[in-house]
Amino acid sequence: MDHKEHKKNAAKAALEYIEDGVGALGIGTGSTVNELIPLLPDYRDRIDSIVSSSEATTQLLTKAGFEGKSLNEVGNLDVYIDGADEATKHFDLLKGGGGALTREKILAGAARRFICIADETKLVGMLGKFPLPIEVIPMARSYVSRQIIKMRGQPFWREGFVTDNGNEIIDVHNLSIVNPREMETRLNQIAGVVTVGLFAHRGADVLIIGNRKGVKVTQQ
Ligand code: 5RP
Repeated sequence: MDHKEHKKNAAKAALEYIEDGVGALGIGTGSTVNELIPLLPDYRDRIDSIVSSSEATTQLLTKAGFEGKSLNEVGNLDVYIDGADEATKHFDLLKGGGGALTREKILAGAARRFICIADETKLVGMLGKFPLPIEVIPMARSYVSRQIIKMRGQPFWREGFVTDNGNEIIDVHNLSIVNPREMETRLNQIAGVVTVGLFAHRGADVLIIGNRKGVKVTQQ
């Protein structure tokens, strides 16, 4: 069994949070969520509306027969299901490897319940080994990078990548993220930063970690 199977195990386990029926469902972005989307048509009757976190996910949802709604139309979400690049047992997440962090953070913020699905390689003691994605307004890229260097991080421009919002991404290596909430707040203060890939102020409510045997589920 490889990581794909572990992701699939996590995705399947997330269906339990749809089983009772959800009003509005938010769907994230990435290879783990991509294991979930093909399973959703069987739950169609239980889902009132779906909001997607990226153009890539919207395309897959359309293929699966769902017409996505905008968050403005739907209001708040009952459940949001998304993956992560890193997760801690304290429910703090590092996200944005796929570059969809801004819309993901908005949907997580608007959700009553945030279910994070990931394979066991994503579970870490401390966030930050995976480079931290930061979405920036294009004209601020160099300025934000200089501020990050002052914080002892090493910023790398994700060259050629444009987010769904028309912005750019800086991937920050070697940041010491001892206190994820504090770091999220600090990075958010830099002018030109749109979104930081730390999900600590609004972390997951439920962590579903897929492994060889099935899943391990923990809840706040
Ligand atoms: C995209 C994300 C994804 O949730 C994160 O990158 C995890 O992806 P995957 O499920 O492919 O490992 O934050 O912006």
